[in-house]
Amino acid sequence: MREANETLVGASGALRRLLEDADVVAPRDATVLLTGESGTGKEMLARYIHRQSRRAGEPYVTCDCAALSPALIESELFGFRRGAFTGAVRDSPGYFASSQGGTLFLDEVGELDLRAQARLLRFLEDRTVVPVGAVSPCRLDVRVIAATNRDLEGMSRKGEFREDLFYRLNVVNLHVRPLRERPDDVMACAEHFRTRFAVAHAKTVVGFTPQAAAALAAWHWPGNVRELRNAVERAVLLCRGTWIDRADLPPRVAAGTRLREALADACEEGSFAGSTERFQRRLLFSVLRDAKGNREEAARRLSLTVHQIKYLVKKLGPAPQ
Ligand SMILES: Nc1ncnc2c1ncn2[C@@H]1O[C@H](COP(=O)(O)OP(=O)(O)OP(=O)(O)O)[C@@H](O)[C@H]1O
Ligand SMILES: [Mg+2]
Repeated sequence: MREANETLVGASGALRRLLEDADVVAPRDATVLLTGESGTGKEMLARYIHRQSRRAGEPYVTCDCAALSPALIESELFGFRRGAFTGAVRDSPGYFASSQGGTLFLDEVGELDLRAQARLLRFLEDRTVVPVGAVSPCRLDVRVIAATNRDLEGMSRKGEFREDLFYRLNVVNLHVRPLRERPDDVMACAEHFRTRFAVAHAKTVVGFTPQAAAALAAWHWPGNVRELRNAVERAVLLCRGTWIDRADLPPRVAAGTRLREALADACEEGSFAGSTERFQRRLLFSVLRDAKGNREEAARRLSLTVHQIKYLVKKLGPAPQ
């Protein structure tokens, strides 16, 4: 699915300020370092900065530094001349020269080995590269945006990342906060993905039930916006009616509010045995409901046998209202 031109969606002050900062740095040619946990939107932000810059009509090239093979790293980044090594049958520009005039996005820059780090530092200092097998350096006009979910400063203290390169990259640092610290973005993004996936999968899905919305709000989203996106796509696909219900969400997302509700129910004044039973009843029937009455599925989610489920239904039933 095309998302290349999408802008980051959100309703939080944190996201608004981030985009304002991005708008300020975009037109400058300064190197930008994007930090933040996996799935927070760093790659989207890099594209956004490119689109807002004077380089918008020029190439935007992504290099995933974690995917470069250590043996070929220099030739892949800086290119090579024909005959530089066995198999080099023609000149190859490499990522830097392919980005000429535009932006090179160095994703997962913390994965570069120390040798490649030295070459990158050289480029950032004098804007030249020496392709493998070439005798003289070539001057290039490329803006670098780098991203990492690692702590480069900490790595540089341990000698795993060059400190001088860290400072060169970190001219401007834009930090994308994890989704759990931007609760206002959860529903905004969820609604955005619902609309988008409903169209993509040709389904009529008009919204989230209050229970589903509560579960989305309560979950801590360790996988950030990527996890939310996948959860909503799955829900749109599984949803039988026109509203996404809690049962359509991934089990671990649904489980958070379920346990809380069961606990609230159990916390009324009363005996220990009574509270425990109310908790068990609420949890059991809530899982059965989310599993659409399928006892095998409910047994799997609760790590019980189907036989135990049947027994508990008899013992704890009927289902609470
Ligand atoms: N604010 C947002 N609005 C809409 N979609 C978003 C937003 N943030 C992230 N996404 C979506 O979440 C997914 C992950 O985003 P992205 O690839 O930019 O994250 P990342 O920070 O680069 O993650 P990683 O460190 O794992 O590479 C993408 O599908 C992206 O479209
Ligand atoms: Mg990324």
